[in-house]
Amino acid sequence: MTEPETDPPGPAQDRRPFVVLDHVNKHFGELHVLKDVDLTIGEGEVVVVIGPSGSGKSTLCRAINRLETIESGTITLDGAPLPAEGKELAQLRADVGMVFQSFNLFAHKTIRENVTLGPIKVRGLARAEADKRADELLERVGVQAQADKYPAQLSGGQQQRVAIARALAMDPKVMLFDEPTSALDPEMINEVLDVMTSLAKSGMTMIVVTHEMGFARRAADRVVFMADGQIVEQATPEEFFTKPTSDRAKDFLSKILSH
Ligand SMILES: Nc1ncnc2c1ncn2[C@@H]1O[C@H](COP(=O)(O)OP(=O)(O)O)[C@@H](O)[C@H]1O
Ligand SMILES: [Mg+2]
Repeated sequence: MTEPETDPPGPAQDRRPFVVLDHVNKHFGELHVLKDVDLTIGEGEVVVVIGPSGSGKSTLCRAINRLETIESGTITLDGAPLPAEGKELAQLRADVGMVFQSFNLFAHKTIRENVTLGPIKVRGLARAEADKRADELLERVGVQAQADKYPAQLSGGQQQRVAIARALAMDPKVMLFDEPTSALDPEMINEVLDVMTSLAKSGMTMIVVTHEMGFARRAADRVVFMADGQIVEQATPEEFFTKPTSDRAKDFLSKILSH
């Protein structure tokens, strides 16, 4: 099978390791939420993380941009361990773009201002340059016409596309998405997934927590199935959705497929 020519390198093992989790452990009190997690995401790879609620998917994402600390193990980004604090941490947050379930746009700032804030404050861009870049990104996600409006004037799907543009404005090296479409009305899900698919095809390294199987099949190189704080199995989307091997994954898929 040939890879689409827009998505350069082939199988995961040929890629340069980019985000590497090695024996990562995390507790919340008594609860062991990440149990010795090993995961290597290659440069330009798109990994979909799937699994039951409470399995540790959000904690995994949050650990990667250090919104959560870990107790043991290591996480490296492009070969460097995650910084603990200070300037380096701010730099890390800029390098790791994150899009959450809720849009988190600043309500009292315009759409364009939402996108330019980070680049001006953190990257030190001049306003004119930041505005130009914001308009390009808003165009890319299809909401350029809304640039002077406020978030409440946009639909949920449009707001989530703005959230993606805002993350991209920082020129991240990797993008994390944590259930980016699960708070959206059904008719708006595809407009967001389409933006994510085109980002995936452009070669961005992406970790996407989602149960959207269409997206996984279209855009993911690999599906990672988590349950109870562990990676239970991983495979190509085709393999995973048609021939899951573990009972946990079979059970989970039968539940999400039956509605
Ligand atoms: N800040 C927190 N304090 C205590 N427990 C938490 C916290 N965040 C998550 N948890 C618990 O950790 C487990 C994993 O949560 P999470 O990573 O959000 O799972 P998922 O995203 O897969 O639904 C859950 O049992 C959840 O209740
Ligand atoms: Mg979650």
